[in-house]
Amino acid sequence: MIDEKINQKYIKKIKLFNKYNKHYYDLNEPLVKDHIFDKLKQQILDLEKKYTFLNHPVSPKNSVGFKPSKLFNKVKHKVPMLSLSNAFDRQDLVNFEKKILNFLNEDLKETIEYSAEPKIDGISASLIFKKGKFITGLSRGDGKEGEDITENLKTIKDIPIQIDSNNFPEEIDIRGEVFIQNSDFKKLANKFANPRNAASGSLRQKDPRETKKIPLKFIAYTFGFEKGLKTKSQNEYLEKLKEWGFKINPLNKIIKTIDGLLKNYNDIEKKRDKIDFDIDGIVYKINDFKLQKRLGNVANAPRWAIAHKFSANTAISQIENIEIQIGRTGALTPVAKIKSVNIGGVVVSNATLHNEEEINRKDIRIGDTVIIERAGDVIPHVISVDLKFRNKNSKKFNFPKICPSCGSKTVKDFNFTTKKEDAVRRCSSEGYECEKMAIEKIKHFVSKEALNIEGFGKKIVENFWNLKLIRLPHDIFKLDFLKLENLDGWGKQSVANLKYSINLRKTISFEKFIYALGIRHIGLENAKLISKNLRSLKNFIALSRNNNIDDLINIDGIGETQINSIKSFLKNNENLNVLNNLDKVLKVRDVESQKKNGIFNNKTFMFTGKLLNMSRSEAKSIIEQNSGSIVSNVTKKLDFLIIGDKPTNRKVEAAKNLKVKILNQSSWLKMLK
Ligand code: IVH
Repeated sequence: MIDEKINQKYIKKIKLFNKYNKHYYDLNEPLVKDHIFDKLKQQILDLEKKYTFLNHPVSPKNSVGFKPSKLFNKVKHKVPMLSLSNAFDRQDLVNFEKKILNFLNEDLKETIEYSAEPKIDGISASLIFKKGKFITGLSRGDGKEGEDITENLKTIKDIPIQIDSNNFPEEIDIRGEVFIQNSDFKKLANKFANPRNAASGSLRQKDPRETKKIPLKFIAYTFGFEKGLKTKSQNEYLEKLKEWGFKINPLNKIIKTIDGLLKNYNDIEKKRDKIDFDIDGIVYKINDFKLQKRLGNVANAPRWAIAHKFSANTAISQIENIEIQIGRTGALTPVAKIKSVNIGGVVVSNATLHNEEEINRKDIRIGDTVIIERAGDVIPHVISVDLKFRNKNSKKFNFPKICPSCGSKTVKDFNFTTKKEDAVRRCSSEGYECEKMAIEKIKHFVSKEALNIEGFGKKIVENFWNLKLIRLPHDIFKLDFLKLENLDGWGKQSVANLKYSINLRKTISFEKFIYALGIRHIGLENAKLISKNLRSLKNFIALSRNNNIDDLINIDGIGETQINSIKSFLKNNENLNVLNNLDKVLKVRDVESQKKNGIFNNKTFMFTGKLLNMSRSEAKSIIEQNSGSIVSNVTKKLDFLIIGDKPTNRKVEAAKNLKVKILNQSSWLKMLK
């Protein structure tokens, strides 16, 4: 009862805080003077400190002001700002190196050099210099488009405004991290929950004079677009940055071998609390730019870099309940509802239990006392059960054999690659028939990487679903906007904004469209491959009619798993209904024929046997960069069969019979010259 009263008092303050914020940042008309606002913020933080069960998403601890994005102009990054894949242990690093060596297919194990750079936990920024002059500064935004925060960045002393060095490139987008030192953060007296929030909050102030009050720092570490940069490696580039007047991380190091990386990692982790800025891991980058270029990127992270995260904080808590969440592809994810605990400054009340197998293996039960771990931005998880505290009457957790949302049977697929049953149990419904899956599918449909309808977040999808406004993706384009204005929490302006963002996405690339459908096993990369091959939505819809889904096997990178998944997607009437309706409300752009200027234009290639100093993926990307395409069967449509070491005889014979040109690796590469 007492708890409830405290909670009510807290929520009242949160609501007021949200209102003030909205007026200040979004509507640009403050309701109260700064000191009243600050006082309220402090009261909320104090309450949370005293009663750790209080944790609201809009708390000043979790939110940095109100989304001020509308205040800044959006600018497209010429070269996207990627993120990094994470590694947590030695095995992850071994796999990372293995993948690189496989891709390059060269014996570089002993010679590969890494630039190891402590990963500062701040806010990344891109600084565009033309003829030595700082022209524009952008935030990362969604990686493709950032906010123009030039004026705020100009207040940072570490950022040179004019560089006169004669070896400075004609144009370059220098990227690095904006952050606040811990010692400076302490002086800010509770204004922000942590140094990262302080950096982010002050960088995004609408008034640069406010930014200037906070002693922000900038450390440079990479670049985006450049014209005239003459460095051959990361450490050479870092040296040049120093010469041009930028600060670089004093703890950067060039290291060979994984053992070397691990030693450096342990050394730095030990002195972590003595460093005057927050670091949450170490970034490893292949030092040689030539190798970086060959390796390229996957979806939205480079193949040539990884972030080795520091081990997480742990805490002990008790499982109050185990809930089952149903994901977009039907996966049943058990989530432990735990007694709220503070882990490294964040209040945690949920922990993922991953899947059925994990629960069985660790024999996790309701009521158990458990160790919870939270690492960076990864969802907290249960490490182990402390059996000493287990109640005698506790019972094994029964994983549901029918879907808690729609009642369909739940199944575990057999994985043909691992020859084992999957660890994950799934709802066997194809999608929209299961309420929970349908909601998740719509969330995916509007999400950043898919349709990217700005302002249409997960909460709004849930809210509109509960109000029965949407059931299927195309309902989004039939919303009655006048009606929306009368809904709780909505008004003329916010509805107008939503309508604008929805209309903006009525034209979409075929590739994004395929991804947005949320077909299992069809992520960004596969959607790209399929769209390149099929070229139009019409052809995709026709697949089921013409019974030629199996032809997709000709796409290099698409296998049986993906084909089976597309088959069951297209077999389902509701999915076909969604496709046809979306075809009516959206304009899905056909894929323009590939750039035609490449030397392999209109030519098809196939490889057999092992290539020298090059992996298949690299060979494939060379073909594609030169406008050619890869097929995986010898047919009349094949133009060239490239043979490496120990080719498959059957393929060579078939090519001979069909009079397909056969080349060895070096004659093929000569074609490029
Ligand atoms: S390189 C494509 N180097 O980590 C490579 N990033 O998850 C990405 N970060 O958004 C950038 N220190 O904010 C790079 N030495 C470093 C870094 C670093 C911190 C941050 C950066 C980026 C995030 C990637």
